[in-house]
Amino acid sequence: MDKLVIEGTRRLKGAVQVSGAKNACLPILAATLLSDEKCVIRNAPALRDIATMLRLLKALGMKTTADGDIITVEPTKGRKYLAPYKLVSTMRASVCVLGPLIGKMRQAEVSFPGGCIIGPRPIDLHLKGISSLGADLSIKKGYIIARAKELHGSRIYLGGHFGSSVLATANTMMAAVLAKGHTLIENAACEPEVQDLANFLVRMGAKIKGHGTPRIEITGVKKLGGAEHTVIADRIETGTYMIAAAITDGDITIKGSRLEHLTAVVDKLTEAGVGITEVKGGIRVRRKRNLSPADVTTLPYPGFPTDMQAQMMSLMTVTKGISVITEKIYPDRFIHVSELNRMGAEIHLEGASAIVKGIKALSGAPVMASDLRASAALVLAGLAAEGRTDISRVYHLDRGYEKIEQKLNKLGAKIWREKEE
Ligand code: EPU
Repeated sequence: MDKLVIEGTRRLKGAVQVSGAKNACLPILAATLLSDEKCVIRNAPALRDIATMLRLLKALGMKTTADGDIITVEPTKGRKYLAPYKLVSTMRASVCVLGPLIGKMRQAEVSFPGGCIIGPRPIDLHLKGISSLGADLSIKKGYIIARAKELHGSRIYLGGHFGSSVLATANTMMAAVLAKGHTLIENAACEPEVQDLANFLVRMGAKIKGHGTPRIEITGVKKLGGAEHTVIADRIETGTYMIAAAITDGDITIKGSRLEHLTAVVDKLTEAGVGITEVKGGIRVRRKRNLSPADVTTLPYPGFPTDMQAQMMSLMTVTKGISVITEKIYPDRFIHVSELNRMGAEIHLEGASAIVKGIKALSGAPVMASDLRASAALVLAGLAAEGRTDISRVYHLDRGYEKIEQKLNKLGAKIWREKEE
């Protein structure tokens, strides 16, 4: 297993290119299952989760080829409908093959994804969406078994205890595009990744309106063709580099991203004293003044993303004053708190809120990565910390941040990979 080692307190300067969005690319790759023709996906990030999705598509009888950031997916004659435990258990997002499989093949057997380190993560809304379209669902031997003679359009309310669901919206939309008649998804997720998926489906010939709003309307079509699509930039990677600039008192230009996907993050960083401006060739990020505390509550899009909560917390650990960070999507997503405290941070948890008392400086320490975004938070903390930080279990980071050491080193950080003893 690899670990990352960081020698901190270097100001980051220069330009960084953001990769394609993992969470857009994953369902888009799953959507290729709906087509009988070749699909070409551009700006695909080279990440472990994307490789897992390609293995899953292969297991489902698709031929995939990757050439740089371009992935081509073609159906073969041997299409299958079983998504095995061994793949789904390594990546929860594999569940988003359920919608396209039932939509296209009228049958699907998808391993039931378990919980994960960030919380229980139920899939009731996925099942509600698919069954509303007329599929029979049962759970047998750890698998979701879905069968349908015919799928029909329906009016579906996709709201749960924590609001809308990104992948349940994706799954329902992907099944509905080949259902007979009209479907209305209410309380649909509005995340840019859902919009990107819908845009890809439209390119394949689907009839979808209202994506990007909580009300998505779909008119089913008989079949979908091949399509080419360029995946949107990763807004979470963008936000992570914004915080890298702020936490190191650096000056970074982020290339290839779209500020309009980050309004809530920009709002909070601006409140904290970070200057974010659109310049020729990118988004420039640097401190405008001494940082001040900011209270943050995570919410579905366009609210502050849960996938930026841990990184924001790292910034607040070195911001004088008290910040309160409340998690409304995954109330247990605080696994990074104890690791940040090992680096000298002063954070205590009160239910689903973290109270952060800013200190002068973090001190480098051996810490353990636990999930993708918690790992990113530890990297940010390590960049700001005095001395050496060793982050073990770096494979979490490889799921979602393309070439992170190369990108950070180019900005002037000192970060490298070592084999863990
Ligand atoms: N929920 C339910 N029932 C469901 C589905 C979700 O109650 O059937 C709840 C969840 O437990 C959570 C809330 O609804 O409280 C929102 O979860 P959502 O379904 O939107 O999450 P997801 O679609 O499984 C995606 C991202 C996550 C990101 C969340 C929230 C992908 C592959 N994953 O997950 O990304 O945190 O949306 O924005 O798109 C990450 O990249 O690190 C990551 C975890």
